[in-house]
Amino acid sequence: MKTIVLGSDHAGIMLKEQIKSYLLEEGYFILDKGCYTSESCDYPDIAELVCREINSDTKGILVCGTGIGISISANRFKGVRAALCHDVKTAEQARKHNDANVLAIGARHIN
Ligand code: RB5
Repeated sequence: MKTIVLGSDHAGIMLKEQIKSYLLEEGYFILDKGCYTSESCDYPDIAELVCREINSDTKGILVCGTGIGISISANRFKGVRAALCHDVKTAEQARKHNDANVLAIGARHIN
């Protein structure tokens, strides 16, 4: 079973939960590194928790308000290639052309 590690700050928690439900239905094993409430938290802390789990078999999804802060934070970790994507096309390109292993999403900027 494929593992996906999820993480978000308070601005991204609702979208993270939606993504989690979808991926569980699709049969993925999910490791949810938080946050777990809508109380304000710091996105670099969440990025670190997720990035420590990334390896050749395990990819991640990070969500914050814009996706910018959490992707910048994630890309500081060795072996992590986080791509901030806004739609299916950019996400596909990030996998095919950039070998991205972490998808970053801005919850306040996508529909
Ligand atoms: C939190 O309000 C917001 O600043 C954060 O989620 C993110 O957008 C930072 O890049």
